[in-house]
Amino acid sequence: MRIKDARLRALRDAPYAFGAGAFEEESAFPDSYWHELAAQVGGAVAAWRDRCVNFVALDGERACGTAITFLCPRVEGHAYLTALWIDPEVRRCGLGRQLIDAAIDWARARGAKHLRLWVDDTNPSAVEFYRALGFEPTGERQPVREGSTEEQSCFALGLSPVQRGVGEETGKDG
Ligand SMILES: CC(C)(COP(=O)(O)OP(=O)(O)OC[C@H]1O[C@@H](n2cnc3c(N)ncnc32)[C@H](O)[C@@H]1OP(=O)(O)O)[C@@H](O)C(=O)NCCC(=O)NCCS
Repeated sequence: MRIKDARLRALRDAPYAFGAGAFEEESAFPDSYWHELAAQVGGAVAAWRDRCVNFVALDGERACGTAITFLCPRVEGHAYLTALWIDPEVRRCGLGRQLIDAAIDWARARGAKHLRLWVDDTNPSAVEFYRALGFEPTGERQPVREGSTEEQSCFALGLSPVQRGVGEETGKDG
């Protein structure tokens, strides 16, 4: 199952980004968990249909990058990016930027005004990556998980509305 394979490779590769112990925890999940996740991000679950997407960059059949984007169920206009990971063999080739661009287009097309994400304090290179792409800290902080002393910070990018051509907007030729 590609979604499981890519997620477990990401967790094993980058515990500083996804939490120490996350690989051990998620690799023990039953296949039903991965089938349900695939159904949610694949549009098969009504509550998440067109509100959640899993972008996958492929090298042949193998995933070399992933990212999940979803519309916040609580705050109108907020979209979130999570689980971004690029295979170390193909980092600094622009793939991360491409997945972010895809997430921006997807979120903006669904009316989101902000694309938000959380970065662990243990992951300063991701902070540099997000800053290079225009994300800025919102000042919000929270523990990486309930009861943890480690923290993460929220970053956000404002999304301008989709620009429409004059002909498209008016339905006239000129
Ligand atoms: C962070 C990550 C997704 C970046 O992906 P990537 O494909 O290597 O990034 P890109 O090649 O698109 O980089 C775009 C720009 O971001 C900046 N950038 C990317 N990685 C950087 C790093 N390690 N240090 C500093 N700046 C970085 C650079 O400005 C880069 O442009 P340049 O290569 O022309 O200088 C990747 O390193 C990764 O998967 N890390 C482990 C998992 C992770 O941290 N996920 C984020 C969880 S919040």
